[in-house]
This record gives sequence, structure tokens and C-alpha cells, in this order.
Amino acid sequence: MFDRFIIDDRETPRFRVHRSAMVDPEVLARERAAIFDTCWLYVGHESEVASRHDFRTRRVGGRPVIMTRDAGGQVRVFVNSCPHRGMAVETRSEGNGRFLKCFYHGWSFDTAGNLVAMPDDEAYGPNFDRQNMCLPRPPRVESYRGFVFCNWSSTGPDLATYLGHSRTMIDLVADQSEEGMSVLGGTHLYSMRANWKLLVENSFDAYHAMTTHQRYIEMIKASGRDFSRRQQGPAAAGVARRGPLDLGDGHAVTGSVDTSGGDVMGALGRAFPDEETRARHKARRARLVELYGEEWTNRMLGGRNHLIFPNLFIIDLVMGCTIRTFYPDDPDYMEITAWQLVPNGEDERLRQLRMGNFLTFWGPAGLATPDDVEALERCQKGFAAHQAAPWNDLSRGMNGNPINSEAQMRVFWRRWNELMTGEVLPPEPEVLFDPERDGRRIAGLAAR
Ligand code: FES
Ligand SMILES: [Fe+2]
Repeated sequence: MFDRFIIDDRETPRFRVHRSAMVDPEVLARERAAIFDTCWLYVGHESEVASRHDFRTRRVGGRPVIMTRDAGGQVRVFVNSCPHRGMAVETRSEGNGRFLKCFYHGWSFDTAGNLVAMPDDEAYGPNFDRQNMCLPRPPRVESYRGFVFCNWSSTGPDLATYLGHSRTMIDLVADQSEEGMSVLGGTHLYSMRANWKLLVENSFDAYHAMTTHQRYIEMIKASGRDFSRRQQGPAAAGVARRGPLDLGDGHAVTGSVDTSGGDVMGALGRAFPDEETRARHKARRARLVELYGEEWTNRMLGGRNHLIFPNLFIIDLVMGCTIRTFYPDDPDYMEITAWQLVPNGEDERLRQLRMGNFLTFWGPAGLATPDDVEALERCQKGFAAHQAAPWNDLSRGMNGNPINSEAQMRVFWRRWNELMTGEVLPPEPEVLFDPERDGRRIAGLAAR
């Protein structure tokens, strides 16, 4: 395996990534062991199992899991593999039922994972250890503000420590409704013939928006949304770019601040369809200002593309909030799952606008996602010639210019490189998260 993946040259400055990282099966094998088997991985949102005995099945880090809410109301995560002979105990993607019954020989489990029935169980004798034939669990499961994670390793930092400053970015989403946030029913499920790290880059790549998504931008302009003011500078823009932040340990975010006072909704959303909808958005904003103050609300409603290393994005563009995770089955193939997170109790007109934005921008048949799929698959095709053209360039913004900087991608790659090779590359100091400047909500919470 090639072992010098990153050239991080601060003098020129120049940052390059070797394309073998995107094509080599040995790289993927090492990623499975060094990254997906050691990092906290997103399982789901607690609201997806809102009622007792709700369940959801999915893959996490390539492994089958079931998330349930048990009879006592506790959210649980199990390996979806029968302790008898391995069959997936639950084959439906979601549902509700007091028992999970294995289709193969009929063993049944309750939603807390206990084995409660086996056909003809007298053949096992009195000493057979039924108590310990419960559904297996991942070594660790923890949650933060409704976001449930598991870890396939029993050692390493707990979830809160692992998330670090990412918690502040999660707070900016989780605090958006006094009644909590929920994932809506329905899932976007799609795949790409591209390396998973290309989607890491793409999910917070501001540079590509105006070219790759030109058609979408034209449509939004046609809806009456005015982007011309934005180009004249942040003060007049209403939604000002804030640029990237290094949240530590490979987590990073890029985003903006909404200084419009509620005149626009989200960095890339369509115009308000009427004055009444605008008024309702302003009313919601006013309530958030009451709760959190003007400055924090400007950040909440500005939006952010937030990576929780290695493969979870919370992309809150305010006009829609996507939770997106993905996993590589091959160096050139990944499956992507995405959900929409919404504020509970949201005004119906605002919900309608949000869902319109969500479908037309983020949907697998929307106006943005298919363009991204096309772009990433074409990159992957280009990597077939990686021996002759071995390097990707991610230097943008290393000269200190934050406009469409790629610093957030370099944060990811440095952490990836550290876990894969042991080489520690120092962060870029100018984009480091500053708790004083960037973390006042946490400070405010502590003071309450
Ligand atoms: S494999 Fe599940 S009951 Fe046999
Ligand atoms: Fe895109």
C-alpha cells in the first residue's frame, strides 16, 4: 500500500492528497480497522423510535443493527443477528411490535433484547443459559441531544469527549425548537460509484455550488430570491459567510451567519412565497432571539455544514436540515442514507417551504444531489489513471482567504491521515474553534 497520502506544505502553501487513497482496496481494509472500528458512528435519532416498541433497522459501520425503544421507554441498540445461528432477527426497515421474532427457527426477543420464547425449548434442557441468549449489543452506545451513536470498540473516549466542540454545533440545531427536534418518517437511500471520502469533501464544499448547481441557483433566482446583494458584501447580504472552523479530532464545519433579521430563509432557500410566510418566519426568529439573544440566533439561522468524523453530516441550511451518513462497500462504491430533521411544532407554512426546499435540493431526484453524484462519479472515473495523475489538490484558502476555503476538508484529511498512518500534522491555527468566540451557547448554558 502506498503510505504517503498527504503533502501538507505550509510554505508554498499547498495541500495534496494521493489518489491511491480513493482506489486501493488495502486502504479500505485499513480504514475499516483504523477508522470505522474505532470511531463513534451515528445510529439514528431518538425521535425515530418515538413510541414504545418502535424499531428501526439499518447498517452502521457495515454491520446490521436494530434500534428500539423498549417497554420502559429506553432507546436500545442491538446487533441485528440472531444469537442462535445468525439470521437477521428483524428484516423490515421499521415498525412497531412487542416482540422481534426470528424468521429462521422462531426465537423471539422483547424490545429490550431478552430472549422470551423458543419453539420446543424443552430440547435444550434446564441448564441451557436462556438469560444470556439475548440480542447482542455493540460494545458501546451513547447519545447526545437525541443523536444516538455506537462504537464497535470497547476502548477510547466516551461520546461527549469524542464530539468535543461538535457538541456546540449540534446544540445550534437541537435548540431550534422548544418542543424538540424530530426526524420525519421517510428516508433517502441512494448509492454512488465513488469513494466515500469524496462525499465527505463534497458535503461541505462551498466552492462547487455556483458551478455544479447552477441550474438550481437559476431556479431559486426565478422564485424571486435575490442573490445579487449577497455578492456585494457580507453586510448587505443578510446571510454572510463565516467560513470554516476546525472543531478538533477531524470534526469540522463551514457555515454562515444570518444577519437579515428574518428577511431571507437559509443560505440557499427559495424566496418566501408570500408576506404571511415571511411574517411567520420572523415570529419564529423573534422567539429564538428571546431565548438565546440576537447573536446566537444569527448563527442558528445562518446554517452550517457540519462533519462529525468520519461519516456523519448534519447539514443545516435552515431551509432544510439533512442528516446524512454513508459507508463504503468498495473503494469506488458507497451507500448513502439521509433523513430530514425538523423542529417539532413548526408552523405549517414554514414546514411546507422547508419540505419543498428539502425535496428540490437534497432529494435523490432533486436538483442538487444528482449533480453531486454525477460530479463525484466522474472524479472516481478519473482516478483510474491515478498512477499517471496521482494527486488531488485541496490548497484553497491556505493563504488565509476564507472565501470558499477548503480548510474544513484539510481538517478531515489530517485526522484521516493520523488514524491511517500515525503521522500527526499540525492544524491551521486561524480556523481553530475558539470557545470564547464560537461557543457562547455552551457558556450560557453553564451560567443558567
Ligand atoms: S437463527 Fe434465529 S432462531 Fe435460528
Ligand atoms: Fe453539491
